[in-house]
Amino acid sequence: MDFKKLQAVKVDREGDGTTIVTLNRPEKRNAMSPQMHFEMVDVLKELAEDRETRVLVLTGAGDSWCAGQDIKLFFRDLDDKPKERYLARLANHEWRWTLLSTFPKPTIAMVNGYCFGGAFVQLYACDFAIAADNATFGLSEVNWGILPGGLVGKVIMDGLSYRDAVWYSMTGEPMDAKTAAAIRLINKSVPAEMLRAETMALAASLSKKNPQTLRTIKESLRFVRGMSIEQAADYLLAKERELRFLDPESGREKATTQFLEEKTYRPGLGEYNRGNP
Ligand code: COA
Repeated sequence: MDFKKLQAVKVDREGDGTTIVTLNRPEKRNAMSPQMHFEMVDVLKELAEDRETRVLVLTGAGDSWCAGQDIKLFFRDLDDKPKERYLARLANHEWRWTLLSTFPKPTIAMVNGYCFGGAFVQLYACDFAIAADNATFGLSEVNWGILPGGLVGKVIMDGLSYRDAVWYSMTGEPMDAKTAAAIRLINKSVPAEMLRAETMALAASLSKKNPQTLRTIKESLRFVRGMSIEQAADYLLAKERELRFLDPESGREKATTQFLEEKTYRPGLGEYNRGNP
């Protein structure tokens, strides 16, 4: 795929296993247009098995992460175009949930500024979220007469406390990044000038870990949420066996030998020596 042809998205491979995907409509605060949705579907499909991508970072161009759906291009302009609306909605759901939440590598939302409405879906679809102290979050749907739809209502009910989800969706009150971290909408907020370095440090540490183990952990944790105790126990046992079968570097066996026989590491304090996988 020729990333240079993209117009609403930018892709930068950093050369160290981290790939930065940037929503790129800064003049519209990276509001999501149908074109952005279509491009993101292609980009995520391309990067999923890309050898140079071990960690994906999702950010926004300029001073905004994502101002939600483009109220003109995604909503009003498509109101009387059922086919275009159908295709845009499919793409919108496909990249922000189907592809991103199951992306086979770790994903980090690097929230550099505004994050409103529909942007909460990709925020939750990412495994990690780090924001700049000056970022602003908001469930602003109520302010313009709609509900937090298109999965927003679902991800906030799964991810926030009932009190916080209701508070922010019914008041439409913006929240700063410190509050977002305090209610666990994000992992942490850092000074704006540190955002990139902090994100890259996390990406670098994830890049060094066993990729098949990371993939199985994220799949397991996402799917186990909706299961009963019995289902979860059985599913996790099956995933454990699947990991042993699929892991090309036999991490479990290596790590066990290094701890029990070689006594060269402490699993509680750091990871086993992967050698040169
Ligand atoms: N849809 C369409 N256009 C949007 C947009 C959106 N969600 N968010 C911003 N824009 C456009 C503005 O219309 C403006 O376009 P123009 O330059 O052609 O007039 C441009 O982006 C810049 O926006 P502006 O409001 O001037 O920038 P700002 O920095 O003062 O404020 C925001 C930024 C994000 C606070 C403000 O634009 C806003 O509230 N946007 C809507 C956010 C929202 O409620 N999203 C939920 C949608 S689900």
